[in-house]
Amino acid sequence: MAGEAEKWVLMVTAQTPTNIAVIKYWGKRDENLILPVNDSISVTLDPEHLCTTTTVAASPSFDSDRMWLNGKEISLSGDRYQNCLREIRARAGDVEDEGKGVKIAKKDWEKLHLHIASYNNFPTAAGLASSAAGLACLVFALAKLMNVKDDQSKLSAIARQGSGSACRSLYGGFVKWVMGKDDDGKDSLAVQLADEKHWDDLVIIIAVVSSSQKETSSTTGMRETVETSLLLKHRAKEVVPKRTLQMEEAIKNRDFASFAQLTCADSNQFHAVCLDTSPPIFYMNDTSHSIKLWNLALMKQLFSRIISIVEKWNRSEETPQVAYTFDAGPNAVMFARNRKAATLLLQRLLFYFPPSSAADLDSYILGDKSILKDAG
Ligand code: ADP
Ligand code: DP6
Ligand code: CO
Repeated sequence: MAGEAEKWVLMVTAQTPTNIAVIKYWGKRDENLILPVNDSISVTLDPEHLCTTTTVAASPSFDSDRMWLNGKEISLSGDRYQNCLREIRARAGDVEDEGKGVKIAKKDWEKLHLHIASYNNFPTAAGLASSAAGLACLVFALAKLMNVKDDQSKLSAIARQGSGSACRSLYGGFVKWVMGKDDDGKDSLAVQLADEKHWDDLVIIIAVVSSSQKETSSTTGMRETVETSLLLKHRAKEVVPKRTLQMEEAIKNRDFASFAQLTCADSNQFHAVCLDTSPPIFYMNDTSHSIKLWNLALMKQLFSRIISIVEKWNRSEETPQVAYTFDAGPNAVMFARNRKAATLLLQRLLFYFPPSSAADLDSYILGDKSILKDAG
């Protein structure tokens, strides 16, 4: 390894957006490799709004692999981080940085230690898919640092081993995680269904109801569901395969009515499956014990109101205008068919939940900030 005497540091920074599933992944058939019980489909958000920024650094002066998440050191000893690090190191290439006089040969990466600093610009572990953006960003940044030549789909299969939903964040636009059939997981990877320009009219609005960490992580929640829910078996075998095909058609044809119907139905079935778990999991009114009772009441009201606002509004129109989906957490992600519908949706949200009233919405995150002005 040339350049060792100078104690150089080689660094790469990457940014990766989160993705929100419209056909949910919930349940693994293999816990270690992270192989799902069904296909899933998601929309990757605009990196400007919800994203992870990760810097990975290698240096002969580092004596162990270390990582900091949002400024706090976290352990890298878990299998998921270790699997990702091992897979990337195994594919590392030669790297030369003439400016620094550094030459790293393929085999040197086994000995070089890493320091990783990652920052999420949105709530971590609150049901906005931080693990998706986080692990996708980690794998992408490491692959760049170590000059890994594999394509995005191979990288997606590595990110999958960090967190299932992460495989979908390696692509923009509409993405499908193909569950695959092989036991080794090589065919369980992400494919892009359509790029970010495909459905320009669609506007995404996220209502951050709570930034608190959820009580049951996605990993634990879905493990308990797999162990105890009969409804999940029906969902994975009978419902999702058909729904996935219908969703692919809806996306291809930019058919908002079908997209909205399928998105809302899948979110509702996912939460029904959580309720069918023993003991039941309530993500939509997920509140930590530290939150006061009056806050809990307010939140319950909020979810049913977001769902009922959308459902009532859609029924009063000839064709649906908006759709909602809730991940494993209390925050609402809404899709509006166009800017006009988004403006109306925002007006309604601002009317029912003025952001200034404490304990309602922490913030509104928009695909397009100018809509806030339109909404007045
Ligand atoms: P979420 O709904 O936010 O994805 P999860 O329970 O699935 O919640 O995952 C949260 C966990 O993901 C965190 O506790 C942390 O271990 C991991 N994670 C989140 N962000 C990052 C990141 N930027 N880098 C590495 N790991 C992350
Ligand atoms: C509800 O990918 O966070 O967001 O694979 O155990 O890390 P692990 O779980 P994770 O689960 C995401 C579940 C979901 C739906 C989805 O993103 O498809
Ligand atoms: Co997650």
